[in-house]
Amino acid sequence: MGDEAGSDFLPVYAPMLDGREEDYVVDCVRTGWISSQGAYVRRFEEGFAAWCGARHGVAVVNCTAALHLALLALGIGPGDEVIIPDFTLIASANTTLLAGATPVAVDVEEDTWCLDPKKVAAAIGPRTRAIMAVHMYGHPADLRALRALCAEHDLRLIVDAAQAHGVEIDGERAGALGDVTCYSFYANKVLTTGEGGMVLTDDDALAERVRLLRNQAFREPRFFHTERGFNYRLTNLQAAVGVAQLERADAIVAAKRDLAARYLPRLARIEGLQLPVERPWAKSVYWMIGVVLGPEHPPRDEVRARLQARGIGTRAFFHPMSAQPALEGSLRVPAQAPVSTRIGARGLYLPSSPGLGEGEVERVVAALEEALR
Ligand SMILES: Cc1ncc(COP(=O)(O)O)c(C=O)c1O
Repeated sequence: MGDEAGSDFLPVYAPMLDGREEDYVVDCVRTGWISSQGAYVRRFEEGFAAWCGARHGVAVVNCTAALHLALLALGIGPGDEVIIPDFTLIASANTTLLAGATPVAVDVEEDTWCLDPKKVAAAIGPRTRAIMAVHMYGHPADLRALRALCAEHDLRLIVDAAQAHGVEIDGERAGALGDVTCYSFYANKVLTTGEGGMVLTDDDALAERVRLLRNQAFREPRFFHTERGFNYRLTNLQAAVGVAQLERADAIVAAKRDLAARYLPRLARIEGLQLPVERPWAKSVYWMIGVVLGPEHPPRDEVRARLQARGIGTRAFFHPMSAQPALEGSLRVPAQAPVSTRIGARGLYLPSSPGLGEGEVERVVAALEEALR
């Protein structure tokens, strides 16, 4: 996952694969169960759904596919609007457009960097059908406030939890607090299958619909189709890695939180640096340790280059949706988004592998202090 191959280069992320991943993958190869047919897929779906507190899990190729199926299964399409954060990965907008609907970009909160419920309320219009909330960098979005808005305006809540396996709200695992919750298992995610995704829901009919659309909308008789579907199936090989990850899930989340507990007090030494927060109702999984530079610091890309020269990998924060050339003319932007604009220009995240040692954390913080001078 590194930018560089140097032996002491610290990449932004390296997955923890020290459980039974290899044994289970070898089992698939030896038994010949390497496609999406195979026992690990169902084990992974059931195990992950249970761990997140949801009734159903449907495994798919990645989170982008999960979001696409979530929108389609909820019946969202042409003429509809979906509120998305202005600060997110472009998959939120792309999947909305793929479903034929219009994404509406709304600003995020100053401290959690997740959708701001007050700004969402102001953006709801007659065509709004759903809110797509993103748990940013491991901190949950304020789903209680967003659910209240959904109830008031008869909207559906899609939760993009790509970066937030294991987050809690009011002491409850947040896996089924939306109508549909979507996860990514890309190699830098809290739990990984290399590439992969999952749709979670408590709704039997929605789960059934996602399963159908995931698999070419096959019904009986098998090759006669009354609607169009996709091949978004996860393989047994990938699910085998997922099952092994799941056995270590609590330990991986604990390691992420422990990393934050070691980073944050050290980073607090640096004046003017904005750090990740944890709201009193939230349990963050600190997917990435993101920081936002203050006006007194050098430009973000200059700081990243200085860190890179010291062997420390970083990533820039997301570029706001409202400033994406690819979305010009297809995204509705009801109001300016000053928070997303500020953090998009001044934010970066630091090496955040769960296995990072004490000395490495100290090295990153010392290098950042120097890079900011
Ligand atoms: C917030 C968010 N949504 C969606 C995705 C897309 O996930 P995938 O790469 O599994 O399609 C990502 C990936 O990083 C993400 O960060």
